[in-house]
Amino acid sequence: MIEIRKIESSRLPSTDFSALEFGKAFSDHMLICEFKNGEWGTATILPYQELNYPLSLHALHYGQAAFEGMKAYRQINGDIALFRPKMNFERLNRSAVRLAMPEVPEDVFMDGLKKLIDLDREWVPKEEGMSLYIRPFLFSSSSFIAARPSESYTFAIITSPVGPYYTGNVKVKIEEQYTRSAAGGIGFTKAAGNYGGAFYPTRKAVEKGYTQIIWTDHKDHRLIEESGTMNIMFRIGGTMRTPPLSERILAGITRDSILSLLRSWGEIVEERPITVDEVVYAAENNYLEEAFGMGTAAVVSPISTIGFRERDFEVPNSPEGIAVRIKKALNEIRTGKVADENGWMLKV
Ligand code: COI
Repeated sequence: MIEIRKIESSRLPSTDFSALEFGKAFSDHMLICEFKNGEWGTATILPYQELNYPLSLHALHYGQAAFEGMKAYRQINGDIALFRPKMNFERLNRSAVRLAMPEVPEDVFMDGLKKLIDLDREWVPKEEGMSLYIRPFLFSSSSFIAARPSESYTFAIITSPVGPYYTGNVKVKIEEQYTRSAAGGIGFTKAAGNYGGAFYPTRKAVEKGYTQIIWTDHKDHRLIEESGTMNIMFRIGGTMRTPPLSERILAGITRDSILSLLRSWGEIVEERPITVDEVVYAAENNYLEEAFGMGTAAVVSPISTIGFRERDFEVPNSPEGIAVRIKKALNEIRTGKVADENGWMLKV
């Protein structure tokens, strides 16, 4: 059962969809469901608003917090559809287990999500390349500062209309000092702290003229892992190569979808450890054909330059390239321009 309390008047008329900054405008409603005394309460959809929490809020001190990122799309016939939402639900619960948080019930996540998007369907942009970014998240909400798991938790969903995630030229630096995740750690989760911990090394890379970091392994920085907040893919000598999933790498839903598409197109796809050396060698010898990040926000983010130690390597990025083809194909499935053969879209 989902309880619904509607807004009195929508903020839609005062929201300028032509000037949206990523994640700054929020739709009329949000969903909240609280876990207390060992059980989940009733999920409630209510007007988007600020909530009051004490400064002893557990999540602020110990970071028992994880999130998801997903999108609702407006299709060419006017329908609203979500892209593979069950995968976000399952991944949130994998994060919950690793962070010692209670798993969110499927009906709270899936039914709550569908009802929320249905209620705010006018917030799903009609313009080409735009969508409604959905942020489900779970955090510890007891008010005590003893260093042990919280007793209460809050699951919430907020949504934000977004435009194309334009990043311009992406110049990435192969990181050899800092680490995003380690063996036995929480790299495979969407823990809030994984992102907070990345800001400082990323800022240092930005100060050197790069946009993002290519994360390498925690042991000796010889293996490529991720790029910024995204999974990474290379096209080297005609084959598509991406690092295999592990406890250190986030199981990206965009990554999974791109791998399926590439295989269905007959591309040779390798999911295997990729060394820094093989990428640098390919770049030096002109057979690094493409490199791109894969994630929910940008979908595909082509890399134009890879920096390694004191050298910068230019990476080809043609409008006829595979990155552009993938982005177009995913967009056509999401907007209903082509048949959804994999059953990825869930209509709201
Ligand atoms: C992604 O799409 O790469 C994300 O995880 C986005 C988010 C951190 C804004």
